[in-house]
Amino acid sequence: MFKTKIGNLDLETCIYNASGVYCVEFGELLKLADPGFSNSVILTKSCTLEPRIGNNLPRYYDTKLLSINSSGLPNLGYQFYCDNAHIIKEHSEFKKPYILSISGLTLEDNYKIITEAVNNNFIDGIELNLSCPNVIGKPQVGYDFTIMEEIIRKASEIIETGRDARLESGSGFLFGLKLPPYFDISHFDMACDIINNSNVQSLTCINSIGNGLVIDTEKELVAIAPKNGYGGIGGTVIKPTALANVHYFYRNTKCSIIGCGGISRGMDAFEHILCGASAVQIGTHFHKKRNVCFKEILTELGSIMKSKNYKTIDDFRGKLVHYK
Ligand code: SIN
Repeated sequence: MFKTKIGNLDLETCIYNASGVYCVEFGELLKLADPGFSNSVILTKSCTLEPRIGNNLPRYYDTKLLSINSSGLPNLGYQFYCDNAHIIKEHSEFKKPYILSISGLTLEDNYKIITEAVNNNFIDGIELNLSCPNVIGKPQVGYDFTIMEEIIRKASEIIETGRDARLESGSGFLFGLKLPPYFDISHFDMACDIINNSNVQSLTCINSIGNGLVIDTEKELVAIAPKNGYGGIGGTVIKPTALANVHYFYRNTKCSIIGCGGISRGMDAFEHILCGASAVQIGTHFHKKRNVCFKEILTELGSIMKSKNYKTIDDFRGKLVHYK
């Protein structure tokens, strides 16, 4: 009922974690690999060349409707996530693909990490994160279309070379991007042009909405410490922006779309799929509910599908109706 495909990767279910939440440490990745949980992919925290401790605490805060984070890419360094891919995948009985999220601090760092990933047969693909809003002094690549084009072109070359070698061993490799939210149609179109001239196969829409400000009114204090309180906004309030991005990229590229933003119930996942998502990622709600959230959302999604007589997610994926 929930089987799906992103690029050439077959997934048992259409739900998994958003990069960032409970996917930094070895033990967290092992939990994601647990065959008893309904998530279908093990997606790592966005990694950099060197390990990072990230921004100052407190750096995460949430309310019923939203979350704000400015973690600043705390991670154990790409080598850790590459070296442990085999053990973590084995724990999933090799049923869940292992995808490396990458957010190198320079172009060269990204190319080095991508090269290592595509040459590791236990890594099934990458999600190149062009959209982290929280590294002090580093603009979001997804908003600079010149750099975005350059990084995608070079990453495509590296991946094509690596793929040839992998094909001999029979394993494919997913090239995915994680995009920031776009708000203006001219920006959507510029991003689509770049993507349509590349070998990118999947798009995760969207990362958090960057540089929001949440206030603890009791204390008259910013909710988080880094960047004077500015951070990425997630949770229920970002769902309309996420849906518009899923819908636009679904209609205007050939990529598989992974919907992310504002999903805490089966109906939220249903809406993302109706807009064209082939799978959904859970961030803020995963943070609140931990791994049980995957099963809960799928159970609700299954009831919605039954009530509408849909047998597979392809029966309604992308079939959102418009006024004439
Ligand atoms: C962070 O580590 O600050 C979040 C990563 C992201 O938003 O891409």
